[in-house]
Amino acid sequence: MFLEAGLLTRRSVRQFDKDKKLSKADIEDLLKIAMYAPSGCNRQPWEFVVVEDDETKEKIIQIHSHASFLRDAAAAIVVCGDTNQQLDENFWVVDTSAAVENLLLAIHGKGLGGCWCAIYPYEERMKEFQKLLGLPENVKPNALVVVGYPTKIPVQPKDRFKPEKIHYEKW
Ligand SMILES: Cc1cc2nc3c(=O)[nH]c(=O)nc-3n(C[C@H](O)[C@H](O)[C@H](O)COP(=O)(O)O)c2cc1C
Repeated sequence: MFLEAGLLTRRSVRQFDKDKKLSKADIEDLLKIAMYAPSGCNRQPWEFVVVEDDETKEKIIQIHSHASFLRDAAAAIVVCGDTNQQLDENFWVVDTSAAVENLLLAIHGKGLGGCWCAIYPYEERMKEFQKLLGLPENVKPNALVVVGYPTKIPVQPKDRFKPEKIHYEKW
């Protein structure tokens, strides 16, 4: 049931009710689920920066060319990885990407809407987020997750299951 109702119906939401905010408890519920993601050797190298301030949201929109819909959303959650906590080089990217997906599914499961907006691997964008949010040098931003109350949920896609993408035993 979870598969049908949850995983297959998640969509990237880009239209939000600007008057509806999230409580701290809502945000912590979402981030708890993000923190249950798998990670290399269970290092859990993720860190999260939650932005609700309108001025900072505007600054994010200036440095991220594909996230203007953040303006009406309740919050931006910047999912970061601490290279000092990771298992091995670049593990922060895979570990925090697992956390992003958990976060998106949590958002969907709670009837909210969310969208993953890339920061990594764009080096210039990463630097700008590091500067704007005051991240230490060892803390790298992976993704901007825009979250809020949806006013429009995109139509469900055609079946994405493509059996030809599955290779048994060998390519
Ligand atoms: C790594 C990554 C980066 C993405 N970056 C953006 C982005 O910058 N802006 C945006 O609107 N959507 C972004 N998306 C969302 C994709 O466009 C979306 O997942 C894709 O079109 C499939 O639609 P769905 O999420 O509704 O299934 C990103 C998704 C991923 C996984």
